[in-house]
Amino acid sequence: MNIQAAYDTWSQTYDTDRNLTRDLDQAVTRKILAGLSSRSIVEIGCGTGKNTLWLSQIADSVHAIDFSQAMLEKAKAKVNSANVTFAVGDITKSWNCSDASADLITCNLVLEHILDLSLIFSEASRVLVQGGYFFVSELHPFRQYQGTKANFQNNQETIEITAFTHHISDFMNAAKRHGFTLEDFQEWWHENDQSKPPRLATFLFKR
Ligand SMILES: C[S@@+](CC[C@H](N)C(=O)[O-])C[C@H]1O[C@@H](n2cnc3c(N)ncnc32)[C@H](O)[C@@H]1O
Repeated sequence: MNIQAAYDTWSQTYDTDRNLTRDLDQAVTRKILAGLSSRSIVEIGCGTGKNTLWLSQIADSVHAIDFSQAMLEKAKAKVNSANVTFAVGDITKSWNCSDASADLITCNLVLEHILDLSLIFSEASRVLVQGGYFFVSELHPFRQYQGTKANFQNNQETIEITAFTHHISDFMNAAKRHGFTLEDFQEWWHENDQSKPPRLATFLFKR
């Protein structure tokens, strides 16, 4: 099953499955971004809109992109805000956003599915205004080294979704090559994660 088909299938249970990574991501995103005042947000890989509704409350507008129609349908059912637009799009291609049109780009639990980070940082750099922020929250590579990938149950079968390992230095180097500086880096554990490696890594880059 390719990545897009996997998310079309997972969309039916994504919000209701037990998923500590999803829940931790939601909590840390609010913690980190609550202090930023944004006018225009682009959310790439918005999925079922888990973070979209909250983003719409801290900005004038949110443009949310995903390549899974079925995930987007769930998001649209959840988020009925006049300041949110949704678009079907593959973020490894040019984004349907004007140059310098956003002051915050958010990307949660998506980049493990993207082989070439430089495509993403290049588009983020084009779409952000000077001084804008690019927030990335990802499964920590330490977990990937242990073999963890995004996965879900479908008809009693575990479906593992194609994932690529990006080391911390891969994020830093891609960011640097595209003119970003690192404002904040943190590692996060769920409260059930005692004595395990960190579950999430978050980066706040500034253009
Ligand atoms: C684990 S979900 C995360 C969804 C949401 N950001 C969240 O935190 O709940 C990953 C999402 O990335 C999307 N995605 C993966 N690769 C993509 C691509 N190349 N273009 C657009 N969306 C993509 C999937 O369709 C899926 O909705």
